[in-house]
Amino acid sequence: MPHQYDFLVIGSGIAGLSYATKLAIHFEQVNTPVRIAVITKVQADETNTKYAQGGIAAVWDEDDSFEKHIEDTMIAGDFLSDRKIVEIVVREAPGRIQELIEYGTRFDKEADGDYDLAREGGHSDHRILHFKDITGAEIERALLEKAQSMKSIEIFTHYYAVELITRHSLGETVHRYDTDNRCFGAYVLNTQTGGVEKFLARTTLLATGGIGNIYQNTTNPTIATGDGIAMAYRAKAIAKDMEFIQFHPTALYEPGKKPNFLISEAVRGFGGVLRNLKGETFMEHYDPRLSLAPRDIVARAIDSEMKKAGAQHMYLDVTHCDYDKFVEHFPNITAYCRDKLGIDIRKDFIPVVPAQHYLCGGVRVDEHGRTNIQFLYAVGECSCTGLHGANRLASNSLLEAVVFGHRAYLDTVAHLEQAEIPDTIPDWNDAGTTHPEELVLVTEMKRELESIMSNYVGIVRSNRRLKRAMDRLELIYLEHEELYRQSKVSVPICELRNMIEVSYLVIKMAMARRENTGLHYNIDL
Ligand code: FAD
Ligand code: SIN
Repeated sequence: MPHQYDFLVIGSGIAGLSYATKLAIHFEQVNTPVRIAVITKVQADETNTKYAQGGIAAVWDEDDSFEKHIEDTMIAGDFLSDRKIVEIVVREAPGRIQELIEYGTRFDKEADGDYDLAREGGHSDHRILHFKDITGAEIERALLEKAQSMKSIEIFTHYYAVELITRHSLGETVHRYDTDNRCFGAYVLNTQTGGVEKFLARTTLLATGGIGNIYQNTTNPTIATGDGIAMAYRAKAIAKDMEFIQFHPTALYEPGKKPNFLISEAVRGFGGVLRNLKGETFMEHYDPRLSLAPRDIVARAIDSEMKKAGAQHMYLDVTHCDYDKFVEHFPNITAYCRDKLGIDIRKDFIPVVPAQHYLCGGVRVDEHGRTNIQFLYAVGECSCTGLHGANRLASNSLLEAVVFGHRAYLDTVAHLEQAEIPDTIPDWNDAGTTHPEELVLVTEMKRELESIMSNYVGIVRSNRRLKRAMDRLELIYLEHEELYRQSKVSVPICELRNMIEVSYLVIKMAMARRENTGLHYNIDL
C-alpha cells in the first residue's frame, strides 16, 4: 500500500520543518484534518541547520535599516542577486524570526534585555541574532519540538528519497522547459527494511540542503550530498547558479577530518585577526575591510597566502580578545579547540583553512518557492531563489529558509484545491537488479570525485582544470551508471549518483560563466 499524504516534505532542517509546522498550524486553526509526512535520511536533527554557528541576520536595531541590509546583500552577491527577492527576504526577516522565537527559539540577550546583535563579514551593522555559537542547534531543537507536537505531522527518520514521482513516472515524455510537468510525491527507500516505498502527496517540498560532500574539505555533515537537486534535475526541474560554491575562509585545520569544524565568521566580527605562518597580518594586501571582508575575498586571500608559502593553513589570532567574553560568546569553539587540539586560545593561534561551506545555486524557484514542476516546491539550501547572487552574505541562509518556508506554505494553501493524484502511479520496479557484491567500487569512485572537485573546481579555477574535471567525471559517471542499473538501490549508491549529477552541474555552469564574479574565479578570464 502506498503512503498517501496531503503534503510530503523531504528534509527536516530549518526549511522543511518551518514549512511543515506552518501548514500544520494553519490547518489546525481552520479545523481541517490533513496529513503531513516529513522524511529525513538519518535521525531528524542531523542537518546542516544543526551545525550553524554564527546566527540569523535581520534588521533589529533602530540604528540599522532595511536599505543597509539590502545593499550589503547586493554587494556580497556582486550585484547578481535579484533585488526584488533581496527586498522580500530582508523586509520579511523580523516577522519570521519573531515566529521562531514564539516556537521557543532562544537568542542571546544583553543585560538590558535587548537582543545581543553580532556583526559578521560583509555586514555594515550589528544584525546577527544568535544563541552562543550554536544558533543552528537551538533553532533545530525548537522547530523539531514544535513539529513533533503537531498531530498532523509524521516524521519518518531513516527514510531516503530516491526519485521524485512526476509525469515521467507514468510513462509520459517530459522536457525540461515543459510547463505542465507535475509532481505526485516520491519513491523512498526505507533504509531499515531495504524496501522502496511510494509516498504520494498532493504537494511535495524539497528541503534537502547542500552538496558539501562532493569536496574533500567541507563544513557540511555527511547528509549533504545534493540529493534533492539531483532528483529534481533528473525529473526535469531547472538548476541555476551551481558554479557559485561558497568556501568558508576559517574552518579548523585538522588533517584528515571530515567534516571540518567551523570557526565562525563571528569570531572575526569579535576581533579575530588572520595571520600567516610567520605571525604577520596579510588582509591589508587584499581588501580595506581586512578580516571582515566578504568571505569570497577572505577565502581567496587565504588560498593565495597558503600557495605562496606552501602552507597547509593560516592562523586566526584571538589572543588579544577578552577571554571571558570570548568564552561567553563562543563556548563551543573554545571547548573544541581546547579538547580536540589542545589549543589555548589565550596564547595559541587557531590554525584555519578554507572549506566548502554553502551552495548559492540550486533548483530554480520563483518568489513563492515554486519550481518549474507543478506542485513541487524547493526551499532552503537546495533552492536558488536569487537572494545570494554570486555570493551569499553571512547568516542570510537560515533567514532565506524561514522566509521562503513561509512563502511556500502560503502558496501551497492557496493552490491546494487543484492538486489531484492519479491512481495509476506504478510501484518502484527493481526487477533484475541485485545487491552489489563490492561496495569498495563506490567508495573509490567517491574518493576520486572529491579529489576532482577539490583540485580542479575549487576556489581558483582555470579552463584547463575545468575541462579535465569534466573529462574525468564522465568516466566515473559511465562506470557508476552501469553499477546503478544492475543494483538494488542503497544509500551509498544513490548518494554517489547524486553527487556525480550535482558535480556535473557545477562544472558545466562554471565552464559557461565567462566572467569572474563573486565566488567564481577562473584565472583564464
Ligand atoms: P538542512 O538543514 O541541511 O536539512 C537537510 C535535510 O534534508 C536533512 O534532514 C536531511 O536528512 C534531508 N535529506 C537530504 N537528502 C535526503 C534524501 N535523499 N532523503 C531524505 N531526506 C534527505 N547559515 C546561516 O544563515 N547562519 C549560520 O550561522 C550558518 N552557519 C553554518 C555553519 C555550518 C557548519 C554549516 C554547515 C552551515 C552553516 N550555515 C549557516 C548554512 C545553513 O546552516 C544551511 O544553509 C541551512 O541550515 C540549510 O537548511 P536546509 O533546511 O535547507 O537544509
Ligand atoms: C559562520 O558562523 O561563520 C557561518 C555563518 C554563515 O554561514 O552564514
